[in-house]
Amino acid sequence: MKKKILEKFEELYGNAEAAKVYFAPGRVNLIGEHTDYNGGHVFPCALTIGTYMAVVKRDDRKLRFFSMNFPANGITETSLDEFVPGEDSWTAYPKGVMWAFEGRGMKLSSGLDILIYGDIPAGSGLSSSASLEVVTGYMLKDQFGFDVTNVELAQIGQYSENNYNKMNCGIMDQFASAMGKKDNAIFLDTADLSFEYAPMKMDGVKIIITNSNVKHSLVTSAYNDRRRECETALKDLQSVVDIKALGELNEEQFEANKSAIKDEICLIRAKHAVYENQRTLKAVAALKSGNIEVFGKLMNEAHTSMSKDYAASCEEVDVLAENAWDIPGVLGSRITGGGFGGCTVSLVKEEAVDNFKSTLGKIYADKTGNVCDFYVVSIGDGPREL
Ligand code: GLA
Repeated sequence: MKKKILEKFEELYGNAEAAKVYFAPGRVNLIGEHTDYNGGHVFPCALTIGTYMAVVKRDDRKLRFFSMNFPANGITETSLDEFVPGEDSWTAYPKGVMWAFEGRGMKLSSGLDILIYGDIPAGSGLSSSASLEVVTGYMLKDQFGFDVTNVELAQIGQYSENNYNKMNCGIMDQFASAMGKKDNAIFLDTADLSFEYAPMKMDGVKIIITNSNVKHSLVTSAYNDRRRECETALKDLQSVVDIKALGELNEEQFEANKSAIKDEICLIRAKHAVYENQRTLKAVAALKSGNIEVFGKLMNEAHTSMSKDYAASCEEVDVLAENAWDIPGVLGSRITGGGFGGCTVSLVKEEAVDNFKSTLGKIYADKTGNVCDFYVVSIGDGPREL
């Protein structure tokens, strides 16, 4: 890949011999959805697919961008003096990260020629934006010698996505990309960012991503609505319990206090956040004790909760998850990521993988008229120079 990227760089900008190429991964979340902005736990892992970025520093303040994914757009030219929070273009992701660095006093002393290529399927919910943010931060750190840790790269990525791209996301995606470790999932407590790596070499079991190839519009506004509904529920609960986040409650505490939540919708959203966080704790405990079956069952419950209580699935993804449950050798299957389209993640016994793909592919085509794609997950490392 590096060679192809440098060839394109040379063709567009010349000077490829001075270019450095960086990479940051996308992620898949195994369990713990919409818990990260509720002070709960998540359990994602970095993928081996992600975003590549080739860069050469300029001697003026110009920024030039080119994406091999959108070649027809050509080169976008802008500058370090043209940061406009809220602008709507893929370049708003790397620009937002530059803007966030500058806001923290890390000034960029020169412009850059940038070429990117991403191998995460568009709209799949596997964090192409977070990987673009993290690769940008990693590149800036290296090019300008900034003193930032990978955890800070994740925080800067989240900050820029919240404030430059106006998507009120939590920290999970950027954290998974910045802190990824080969063959390990990351058990992260978003309340204080403490985390541990969990080895995911499961004997005879594969992690399969199934892409519905469906992306519903208004995902950002639906996501921001869910977040607001949880915040409203939290405020109501705070009149009866002393908590800072929904993630501090277990199921019993939630049930005992939920009548404080005035709005019915906010109540079921909060229920998802609380139960999903507890499910994540149970799932990781089960995995640690080698009980992969229990992990799978909790994934199925997590799907139902995302679909019914959180209303963050969609018909097509429900078809994928719910039909997967009946296929022999499937331990668990659920929607992964923010939702409203995108992918499911499933644990499937190795010998059942071929049948899983053909059976589910056929059911999906029959029921929705669409084609789904399958990827066997390899868990990769975090950002790096290639
Ligand atoms: C998106 C957001 C994350 C997280 C997930 C849902 O991917 O970027 O912060 O909230 O949705 O778990």
